[in-house]
Amino acid sequence: MKKTVDHLNARGSRVLVRLDLNVPLDDNGAITDDRRIRAALPTVKKLLSDGGRVIMMSHLGRPDEEPEKKHEFTLAPVAKRLSELLGIKVDLLPDCAGPQIAERAARLRDGEAVLLENLRFHPEETIKAKKTASDPKLKERKEDFARQIASLGDAYANDAFGTCHRDNASMLTVPRLMEGKPRVAGYLVQKELEFLGDALRNPKRPFVCVLGGAKVSDKLGVIRSLLSKCDTILIGGAMAYTFLAAEGHKVGKSLFEPDLFETARSLRKDAGNKLRLPVDSLAAPEISSHTTPVVCSADIPADLIGLDIGPQTVKAFSSEIATAKTVCWNGPMGVFETPPFDTGTLAMALTIAEATDRGAISIVGGGDSAAAIDRAGLAARMTHISTGGGASLEFLEGKPFLPLEVLDEV
Ligand code: 3PG
Ligand code: MG
Repeated sequence: MKKTVDHLNARGSRVLVRLDLNVPLDDNGAITDDRRIRAALPTVKKLLSDGGRVIMMSHLGRPDEEPEKKHEFTLAPVAKRLSELLGIKVDLLPDCAGPQIAERAARLRDGEAVLLENLRFHPEETIKAKKTASDPKLKERKEDFARQIASLGDAYANDAFGTCHRDNASMLTVPRLMEGKPRVAGYLVQKELEFLGDALRNPKRPFVCVLGGAKVSDKLGVIRSLLSKCDTILIGGAMAYTFLAAEGHKVGKSLFEPDLFETARSLRKDAGNKLRLPVDSLAAPEISSHTTPVVCSADIPADLIGLDIGPQTVKAFSSEIATAKTVCWNGPMGVFETPPFDTGTLAMALTIAEATDRGAISIVGGGDSAAAIDRAGLAARMTHISTGGGASLEFLEGKPFLPLEVLDEV
């Protein structure tokens, strides 16, 4: 078992806390969903009330992939929201490394908190271990960057569950370099591991998984791994059309991935009746079309795009979920941002909430599914809504989380 912030003596100590404050922003830079910020509060509050000097850090988006739009990825809106929620002023520092930052960190007082600016403003943050392994110069660059961050803290806490599947410098290199200083997990990481781990270790059956989203390529690993663990996998979202098209069905102008046809066919063969695809779809010539006919998912007219699961599929999937004792959901059933293509996703949210009311355990992962549940006002009726999208998928897939492995054992 890993040590947590409960094992830390934070008073007077500068605690570097890696959080996943990567929240969605609208075009005006306003936070549209602050769940990840709220989920980080218990750990931060605990450290502050213990008299810790809290140095929070996070990434936001992928500015390393779009350096020309860097200004759009500032953590300023997050610092403001954190200040409101914590009830104390959280200063956003202008960077995450460098002498000016070190000087400010050294001046922190007990019970004070600051937020470092977006870690991914430095490309070193995301240099992958695969690359550093074969290129000593890159390794040195990543470590130099990590060393500057590591030097800011007397202790390290990881409460960034949503990023635990990444080998980012702040997630892995920093705690490695802080060997000998306390390195612990936060409450959110602890809670996520407890819920996701319990659901998987010994699932109450029937165990039904609902998977959606645009791409099969994002979910291949998890489908393979869940096939051996669960009783039924219900597939919605555009990824269903890759399975259907792979078997020669007509999917019209729907999104699909031809590269994955062979994989999709072999998955279907291995899965047999466990893997269920939509029988009907809501389709339209364009997302903005006013007419949205219900069509057979395996015979979509050439000029139409499948944009949501149809009513027969909602019925079939719902009756499967109704019998479940464990339900795991990741990914929307259609283009849920644009009504009426949110119908299938909202119907799944309600059916899963009802199953939970009857005693089933429901675990939801992925920002889109969580957002749909929030919009439907059903969040309180789910057993656990993970703050991880990719991370919860990789956890379900059984991949190791290296950033957690380096933390101190009890
Ligand atoms: C996420 O939202 O998936 C996490 O914050 C990690 O972000 P990333 O996928 O850009 O690494
Ligand atoms: Mg991601």
